[in-house]
Amino acid sequence: MSGRLAGRVALVTGARGGIGAAIARRFAEQGALVAGADIGPGVEAELALHCDVSDPAQAEAAVAATVAKFGALHILVNNAAAFVPDNTAETIPLEDWNRAMAVNLTGPMLMSRYAIPAMRAAGGGSIIHMASQLGHVGREGRFWYCTAKAALVHMATCMAIDHAKDRIRVNSLSPGPIATDRTLGRIGGEERALAFYGPLTLTGRQGTPEEIADAALFLASDESRYMTGTDLLVDGGYNAR
Ligand SMILES: NC(=O)c1ccc[n+]([C@@H]2O[C@H](COP(=O)([O-])OP(=O)(O)OC[C@H]3O[C@@H](n4cnc5c(N)ncnc54)[C@H](O)[C@@H]3O)[C@@H](O)[C@H]2O)c1
Repeated sequence: MSGRLAGRVALVTGARGGIGAAIARRFAEQGALVAGADIGPGVEAELALHCDVSDPAQAEAAVAATVAKFGALHILVNNAAAFVPDNTAETIPLEDWNRAMAVNLTGPMLMSRYAIPAMRAAGGGSIIHMASQLGHVGREGRFWYCTAKAALVHMATCMAIDHAKDRIRVNSLSPGPIATDRTLGRIGGEERALAFYGPLTLTGRQGTPEEIADAALFLASDESRYMTGTDLLVDGGYNAR
């Protein structure tokens, strides 16, 4: 198989969703053997796994199933995320806060915990935490999301230090506003999304899942071999001003 990820094995979480599905597709097009894990049904990948990333046993089992099927693991994309209703620190139900942190922060840590030994055995790897532009700036009502994403950015930096000796690179990827079924449903359709996000970005539009998949491909491939412990912001210029 040829391609920029030929001979590599990748595990993508949240692989049913807009961005996760695009990443799984792009990696497969580029020659990777791809396992897609999600809490929901309908994952399209060579190996589709049911996995709640916040559950240690399920996270461990997803990694084990990937290695059992493909013989190794080189790339982990921690893309799954849970979304709870907007709230402030004063009003958020503790249950919602705990769920947001469990899936968005503990999940990437658990998946990494089980992936790292497999990557070490494979001679190295690339871990990508899907953060967000909102890990860099705030948004009213979404402090729970912004907090988790900011922590993910720094988790990548710290994990990169710990695992450099194993030739495991760890970076975060911070998308700006991306058009997925979830975000379009939330804002009320493409027209409203363009009216809202157009003026907020320098590119005048939302990004596409494929544009984030291209950035993930770069971070997963050897083309980013000198890059670890940092964040790649792909936000159409949203954060430039
Ligand atoms: N779409 C955007 O504008 C945008 C912007 C910045 C960052 N992001 C980030 O990109 C990632 C993907 O976002 P998306 O827009 O494709 O969202 P999405 O809702 O379409 O996909 C998220 C996927 O995660 C899965 N998931 C939820 N909880 C899970 C769990 N406990 N275990 C395993 N899977 C679980 C869902 O079933 C879903 O398929 C997220 O991390 C999100 O925070 C998205």
